[in-house]
Amino acid sequence: MPEVSKSFHSNEVEVSISEVIDGIYRIAGFVETYGITFNQFLIQDENPILIHTGPIGMYRRIEEKVREVINLEKLAYVAFLHFESDEWGGMEFLKSPRVKLVCSDLSSKLNLTGWYNVPTDHISFWDNEVLKTGKRTFRFIMTPHVHHWDSMMIFEETTKSLFTSDLFIQPGDNKPILSEDLSDQMIQLYKAVGIFGSEEPVRQTTKRLVKLEPKITFPMHGSCIDATMFSSYTDAIMNNKFAYSGNLLGQKVPIIT
Ligand SMILES: [Fe+2]
Ligand SMILES: [Fe+2]
Repeated sequence: MPEVSKSFHSNEVEVSISEVIDGIYRIAGFVETYGITFNQFLIQDENPILIHTGPIGMYRRIEEKVREVINLEKLAYVAFLHFESDEWGGMEFLKSPRVKLVCSDLSSKLNLTGWYNVPTDHISFWDNEVLKTGKRTFRFIMTPHVHHWDSMMIFEETTKSLFTSDLFIQPGDNKPILSEDLSDQMIQLYKAVGIFGSEEPVRQTTKRLVKLEPKITFPMHGSCIDATMFSSYTDAIMNNKFAYSGNLLGQKVPIIT
């Protein structure tokens, strides 16, 4: 039997919170096993939203940080951007009395239907649909095969904040916003981990994201990227090979030729 990863099933991961821009908080824990931070984003508004919950083992510490900003009873939405435990393993947030689960239409059809004991009460969004939380407007961008076929991203229009999930991630435990260019490290990380089946869908999405001219980008792992650094990461995606080539989570997979 393979050993169960303790990093996810214990509460040993230290979690910190910082306000990245007005009312948008990054709640980050560094997971040593993978050498990356797991980031959640809490966005304050009349109806606050949390993007990602972290895996179950980090949930309590993340919840403590959410409570430093809002009363948990106020939390209105929890969004996950594709179906993986780091994106929404901390399901206990759904016990908050008002909270609604938010996901892509594909996640809804593929992953929130047909399971035993998975919550079915949720709202799902197709490409370009919006969710208003008060002053803010969240636009949903479907990004199929940018990692998974149900993947989506979110663009908050009033602040031009872009939530890219596993695109533009970087290794290390760095500051909430980093002015150092880690795009080479991003490419090396993608090659080692093997999360993209091919470059083409990722590049198509990247071209679309560039047109949005985000002021700040919030990847799920690593630091936030301000507008001055954004082109380093998009250029790296457009000009390098980074798709799966026989490595999964840093381990070689036998290739039959
Ligand atoms: Fe992922
Ligand atoms: Fe992730």
